Amino acid sequence: MFLSSVRSLKPNHNSQLSTHLTPHPVQAASLNYRDLAIVKGFYPFALRTPIVPTSDGAGVVEAVGSGVTRFQKGDKVLTLFNQGHLAGSLDYTTVQTGVGGVIDGALQQYGAFNEQGLVAMPSNLDFLQGSTLVCAGLTAWNGLYGLESRSLKPGDWVLTQGTGGVSMFAVQFAKAAGAKVIATTSSAAKGEKLKSLGADHVINYKEVENWGEEAKKLTPGGRGVQHILEVGGPNTMVRIYVSRLANRSKDDVSLTISHLRRPNPSKPSLSTASSPLSVSSVASRASSSLLSWTAW
Ligand SMILES: NC(=O)c1ccc[n+]([C@@H]2O[C@H](COP(=O)([O-])OP(=O)(O)OC[C@H]3O[C@@H](n4cnc5c(N)ncnc54)[C@H](OP(=O)(O)O)[C@@H]3O)[C@@H](O)[C@H]2O)c1
Repeated sequence: MFLSSVRSLKPNHNSQLSTHLTPHPVQAASLNYRDLAIVKGFYPFALRTPIVPTSDGAGVVEAVGSGVTRFQKGDKVLTLFNQGHLAGSLDYTTVQTGVGGVIDGALQQYGAFNEQGLVAMPSNLDFLQGSTLVCAGLTAWNGLYGLESRSLKPGDWVLTQGTGGVSMFAVQFAKAAGAKVIATTSSAAKGEKLKSLGADHVINYKEVENWGEEAKKLTPGGRGVQHILEVGGPNTMVRIYVSRLANRSKDDVSLTISHLRRPNPSKPSLSTASSPLSVSSVASRASSSLLSWTAW
């Protein structure tokens, strides 16, 4: 999947920046569940076809336009998921600037990006590592820290679900921040991996149907957790609410919802009821009677 020519992505040519993605593109592009959803045809957000897929890329700046000030040739950079989303909440306009959705993505040799659509790659990471930050890493970070008044604190209890990209980042961020982590997974081998990353407790959600109740029992006084990285969708949402796993007494639960699942009309749920197809990203107080959705 190679782009035959470098083309502009923004009308302002002076502020364009050409980047040379690594000569081995797949080694510096990471895949997300979203990329699968696009291919399978149930991605609910803006799409242009044909499109070069994948949102997350790492590369080297090969040339800069005359107005570029943020980067120079040779800089190592990462793509920004929504090129037009520089700050604040996503809106109708910025949500239509997704890389790999509307703007050609990372599985190409060369790409042309506005300088605002790239960020410097952390110098301690290689390209492959860097490319994983863009979607999954940032989602996990936003889940734990995006709601400033409820951001993760040392000693907080965090529940993560499964061993996908978002959750693996969340486990590591939470442990680095001094939090306690309860992680769910469907396999013993992945459970060991979670423990090696620092998870304090691992529950196999295939074996323990009422994993929400079990997780709650693990918390001090059985009070529940302060943060939930909710990525499972309708079934896991229901389990969280049934178990009252969220620690409501402290009124400080941050629930991050990251669903992108094919909707199942026979299973109405919070997520499918909240947008035509799915809710993708929310940071909200679970103690609110009605979650405030911010789908992107
Ligand atoms: N809103 C955003 O900004 C944003 C960004 C990125 C991703 N997302 C969404 O977040 C979700 C996760 O994304 P991802 O890229 O991390 O996905 P992924 O890498 O494809 O994650 C797959 C993992 O999810 C786990 N899983 C599946 N069903 C589960 C269940 N019922 N209970 C617990 N874990 C379950 C499984 O873990 P085990 O194999 O360990 O069981 C599976 O390996 C997707 O729906 C995605 O669309 C949203």
